[in-house]
Amino acid sequence: MPSTLEPQFIQDFTHFEQHVAKLITRAGWTVETAKVNQPGYDLIARKDKLVVAVQVKWLKNNVNAPQLLKFADFLDSEAGKKFNFGLFITTKGFGGPALALIRTWGKDTKIGCAIAEENKLVWVNGGIIDPPPPLPLEKIYFGVFTCKGGVGKTTIAAHLAGALALQGFNVALVDLDPEENLQKLVGDGVYVPNPKGVGTSVQVFKADDWHEDSARDCQIVICDCSPALERNSKELIKRLNYCIIPTTLNPLGINKHGKVIQETVREIREINQDADLFVLINNFKDPGIRRLRLLKEVYSAAYQEISKTDNKFHCIDPEEVCIRSSDLLYYWGIHVLENPVNPGSRLAFDLIGGRCYPREDFISLADYIESKAGIGVLRHE
Ligand SMILES: Nc1ncnc2c1ncn2[C@@H]1O[C@H](COP(=O)(O)OP(=O)(O)OP(=O)(O)O)[C@@H](O)[C@H]1O
Ligand SMILES: [Mg+2]
Repeated sequence: MPSTLEPQFIQDFTHFEQHVAKLITRAGWTVETAKVNQPGYDLIARKDKLVVAVQVKWLKNNVNAPQLLKFADFLDSEAGKKFNFGLFITTKGFGGPALALIRTWGKDTKIGCAIAEENKLVWVNGGIIDPPPPLPLEKIYFGVFTCKGGVGKTTIAAHLAGALALQGFNVALVDLDPEENLQKLVGDGVYVPNPKGVGTSVQVFKADDWHEDSARDCQIVICDCSPALERNSKELIKRLNYCIIPTTLNPLGINKHGKVIQETVREIREINQDADLFVLINNFKDPGIRRLRLLKEVYSAAYQEISKTDNKFHCIDPEEVCIRSSDLLYYWGIHVLENPVNPGSRLAFDLIGGRCYPREDFISLADYIESKAGIGVLRHE
């Protein structure tokens, strides 16, 4: 049943198709509808000698990668080759893996992807009809922030960077906290060799030394924030595409942190309205099935209010991904005490008896983030 809240142009496929045709016509093209049940495209747009196949995708959710691949295959087929290029136009948006795919296509792609809004087409890659916007090949910024001290921000920022480097990314780690804990523990950065080729690195910067050109080979930037928001660089908080908010899953933690998280979200939103925010459980101890169910209920109830008004606020289900409590993380930094003169940079990724909780947990977190943010294409060759 159509929702009365939705604008009429996206209420059903037919309205949406007419709307897309209108927007393309407005840009100076002639548009005709394809034959009924024509596979591959819905509209044909012409201007001068150019003929364009337009796929109109009316969806309640984001476009996924297979939908785009199917259209790309069509354009490569005999029937598709008669078109100079294709436009893929949708209602809502493009999911992480779809955006990753679009990025791999680069500037010379034959497919323009856009969201049709009320008055315009918003291109996610080179606009073929309107002036092209820049390609989304900029660095992707992650922050780790809670407006509460000692919940594991620095620990998470450093080890997430390490896990992403293990997964084949070059990462810049920026220490926004004037306390400079990150500097003290991994100031020299970490190099992860790759037996098959050049390895990857985590390079560490103080906020004042940070400049994008200092880390041209890094596509991912992780900012370890100070719990006092005003002590962080506002410019960098504005730049965040994603922010991880660490918290704990215990009764007092949820009680206290419910307020803290609300405050955290409010503070971030004053500066940055676009970042996706993810609450992540740190210091997780298995409470047993019954207590876990109870804690999870209270956890999601505590944050449901925020989700209602903020559609970019998410809680990561601890049964899917969390950071377990571990001695390796608790004693992380011992290397600095052991060798204060030449401390070196160590992460808590050592295997003990063939296993390492932090390594497993942070790799799961890196995988989770990769799937949400579609950053796979940034992987170092
Ligand atoms: N999963 C964990 N298991 C065990 N100990 C942990 C874990 N996460 C963090 N810790 C410990 O908790 C303490 C606080 O962590 P950390 O310094 O990363 O927090 P923070 O939020 O960055 O603090 P601050 O607000 O002071 O910057 C450290 O002693 C760290 O070793
Ligand atoms: Mg810290």
